[in-house]
Amino acid sequence: MKIAITGANGFVGSNLIRHFQTAGHEVLALVRSVESANLLRNIVKTIVVDYSNPGPLYEAFCDMDVVVHNAGKTKALDMDEMMQANVSTTDNIITAINSLSKVTQLIYISSQAASRPSYGNVPVKESDAPAPLTNYGKSKLAAENLIRKKCNQPYTIIRPCSVYGDNDKDFLSLFKMVNMGFSFQLGKTDKLLNMIHVNELAEFISLCLMNERVFGQIVFATDTKVYYQSQIMRSIARALHKSPKYVVIPEVIAKLAFTLGGWYGKLFSVAVIVNKDKMKEIMAPGWVADTSKAKELLNWNPTPDFDLNIMETVKCYRALGWL
Ligand SMILES: NC(=O)c1ccc[n+]([C@@H]2O[C@H](COP(=O)([O-])OP(=O)(O)OC[C@H]3O[C@@H](n4cnc5c(N)ncnc54)[C@H](OP(=O)(O)O)[C@@H]3O)[C@@H](O)[C@H]2O)c1
Repeated sequence: MKIAITGANGFVGSNLIRHFQTAGHEVLALVRSVESANLLRNIVKTIVVDYSNPGPLYEAFCDMDVVVHNAGKTKALDMDEMMQANVSTTDNIITAINSLSKVTQLIYISSQAASRPSYGNVPVKESDAPAPLTNYGKSKLAAENLIRKKCNQPYTIIRPCSVYGDNDKDFLSLFKMVNMGFSFQLGKTDKLLNMIHVNELAEFISLCLMNERVFGQIVFATDTKVYYQSQIMRSIARALHKSPKYVVIPEVIAKLAFTLGGWYGKLFSVAVIVNKDKMKEIMAPGWVADTSKAKELLNWNPTPDFDLNIMETVKCYRALGWL
């Protein structure tokens, strides 16, 4: 199968490329910069594109069977930047694909954040009314809605929960803190979350390729288990051979830290993950998605070994000199 991947140089994109190539697919990597293209050139066929215009996207996609639209911003300075990255880009991709009959499927990598948190640990279904908490979640939902309204080709919208694994920089800070002997929980409730390893996500996306059962569908992608935050911290500590002190940080202190993070970002014009908007997601009661649709439509029944995956992630971070 010929598959184009946008955002090919990022965490999920680079792991997806490896997975698809191993499975024997012909992959085209779309990136925004020549530097990224140079880094990927020996690994995969690469093209530098300007996502702000459907023309170059049309050229890139014209011989493809499937387009996996994975590019996106997870943190931005403000809502305008977030909407530009996640919605305008998607709009141009849809315009390009709509005039290409060879492209059989658009797979959009959305996010659990486009949906809503779980309350009382009742899993959220794809059919539940979305109520995203953050600019990020709102922009991913707006992109989903645009696809549902405007895309003339079969599409599949995948909502991954938190993704971890090789080359991920978002969870890296947690690993670094535990490595320094510091483990914590924000607020007094130990929350339940979904997680998925990036290789499991790649496997999940593979099951969706040209699969008519998921045409026109939205599906949550999780490893089908739920994890307490404290359980995740303990697993990281075991993998690092550390016995950190587990500290419960009161909500008011956490709020202060996120507010200061947001001010820092604004002052130095950098998009930071520690900001007041992101705090809404982190302090939500829980993020538990219902997995029955994925099980039914995709036979998605993974057997995740979370501790082993965390150990492998530590190995990768050490090999890269990040820990
Ligand atoms: N990681 C997670 O836990 C998680 C969970 C759920 C969903 N997702 C979704 O998965 C996708 C990949 O995320 P990731 O974790 O791999 O993030 P990442 O490492 O930051 O990669 C994001 C990719 O998107 C590209 N990109 C960023 N802004 C763009 C823009 N304005 N126009 C075009 N391309 C842009 C980046 O290219 P440059 O390097 O050139 O900037 C990069 O290749 C995103 O759509 C994200 O919403 C991620």
